[in-house]
Amino acid sequence: MKRTRVVEALHAKNPLEQILIKGWVRTRRDARGFSFLEINDGSCLKNVQIIVDESVPAFAALKDVNTGAAVAVEGQLVKSPGKGQKWEVHATDLNLLGPADPHTYPLQKKRHSDEFLRTIAHLRPRTNKYGALYRIRSESAFAFHRYFRDRGFYYLHTPIITGSDCEGAGELFRVTTLPVDSTGEKQEALTTETDFFGQEASLAVSGQLEAELAACALSDVYTFGPTFRAENSNTPRHVAEFWMIEPEMAFADLQDNMDLGEDLIKNVTTDVMDNCREDLELFARFVDKNLMQTLDAITGQTYERLSYTEAVDILTRAKIQFEFPVEYGFDLQTEHERYLCEETFKKPVIVYDYPKEIKPFYMRLNEDDKTVAAMDLLVPRVGELIGGSQREERYDVLNGRIIENGINADDYWWYLDIRRFGTVPHAGFGLGFERFLMMITGISNIRDVIPFPRTPKHLEF
Ligand code: 4AD
Ligand code: MG
Repeated sequence: MKRTRVVEALHAKNPLEQILIKGWVRTRRDARGFSFLEINDGSCLKNVQIIVDESVPAFAALKDVNTGAAVAVEGQLVKSPGKGQKWEVHATDLNLLGPADPHTYPLQKKRHSDEFLRTIAHLRPRTNKYGALYRIRSESAFAFHRYFRDRGFYYLHTPIITGSDCEGAGELFRVTTLPVDSTGEKQEALTTETDFFGQEASLAVSGQLEAELAACALSDVYTFGPTFRAENSNTPRHVAEFWMIEPEMAFADLQDNMDLGEDLIKNVTTDVMDNCREDLELFARFVDKNLMQTLDAITGQTYERLSYTEAVDILTRAKIQFEFPVEYGFDLQTEHERYLCEETFKKPVIVYDYPKEIKPFYMRLNEDDKTVAAMDLLVPRVGELIGGSQREERYDVLNGRIIENGINADDYWWYLDIRRFGTVPHAGFGLGFERFLMMITGISNIRDVIPFPRTPKHLEF
C-alpha cells in the first residue's frame, strides 16, 4: 500500500477506508483497552492521532512503542470526536519499524533550550520548532528561485574552489592536498607549486566576480550556493559556511540594484508568509511575539534610502550610548544598523555611497572620488541582510583601484578583460540566506537557522 503523508491525511475531504501512515511517535497515552499515539512524519507541524485498541494484533507489544520510535500504521481515517483535530486513525495493524529507548532518547515532551538542541543537531529536526524551520528553509529557497525565474534571471553555478579573494578581506579557507607531517604542520619542502592546482586555492567567499562575467553575456543572472568565510568571530550573525544568493544585472546602476533588493525581499517574504503560514505562526507564538508586525513592515512599506553620510549624521546625534562609537570612515556595526531600522525608521533601510576605504576594489567610484556606489540593505533585528554595489566598469579606474588596494592585477586579467570588450554599467548584490531566515522566523542566533552550523571550533555532524 502507498504511504499517506500525515499532511494529506489531515487535509482529507472524506473519511478513508484504508490508509498506511508512517512516522515517529511523539507521545503515547494508555487508557483501559486502548492507547493513543501521536505520530509525526515531518510533512507538517501537526501530528496525526492514532487509536490502537485491543483488537490490533500488536496491542500487547505497545509498551515498546515509545516517544522517538518509528512505526507503520494501517487503519481507517475517521472523523475525530476529540477537540483540536478533524481526523484520527483507527489502527487495524501496527508495526514497530525502529524502537527508541525511552531512557536515553534525548527529546522529552518539555521544551528544550536552543543551546541544548544544538548539541543534538542530528535529532532537533524532530522537534516542532526545527521541523518548521527546515520546511520554511526549503520553501524560502524555492521562493528565491521562483522570483528570479519569473523575471528572466538565469541560475548560474559559480565555482566553490577559487584562486581569487573577491572581498579582499583575507577570510579564506585554504584548499590543499599537501600532506602534513607528524607535527601536523605543512612540510617545508612542499610548496604551492607542488600543490594540486600549482597555486594557492581557497573556498569561495562569493560568486560575484564570475557572476559579473556571466551577466556581461546573459544580462541577468543569479547564483545560490554555499560560501565560506574564516572570520574568527563568534557572533549570533556569522557562520563559517553559509548560503548566499547573488543576482547580477547588466545595463543596471545603483538605483536599479536598490529597487531589485527591495522588491526581492518584499516578494519572497510575502511568498513564504503565504506558503508557510502554519509554521510561521509557531515562531510568532513562541519565538518573537512581534514577528507578524515586523514582517508586515517589511512587505508593506517603502524602504528608507539614505547615504552613508546621512546615516553617520543620524547615529552621531543618537541619544544612546553605542558600544562602538560612530565616526565617518568607520564601517557600521550591527548595533548601528539595528538602531536605524528599529529606532529611527521602524522599517528596512538602504544605506548607499560608503567611503571607498572600507569597501572592496570592485565597487564603482563616485564623482566625489571619496565614496563608492555601494549599498547595504538593513532589516530590523538582523542588521545587514544584503551587501552590494554598482561595479566599476571603467577599465582604467578599475585598474587603478586594484593597484591602490595592493592586489596583483595579473590574477584578475579576466575580470579586467570584461572591461575591455563591450563593457557596460552593471550591478548586483549578495543576500545572506541564513540572515533572511533569521528575519522571517525571528530566530536570533544564526546557528539555529542552518541545519548543521560551522563556527570557530565547531565542526560536529
Ligand atoms: O556583504 P558581503 O560580504 O558581500 C559580498 O560578498 C558581495 N561579493 C556580494 C555581491 O555583491 N554579489 O556578503 C553578502 C551578504 C551579507 O549582507 C550577509 O547577509 C551575508 O552575505 N553574510 C554572512 N552570513 C552569514 N555568515 C557570515 N559570516 C556572513 N558574511 C556575509
Ligand atoms: Mg557586507
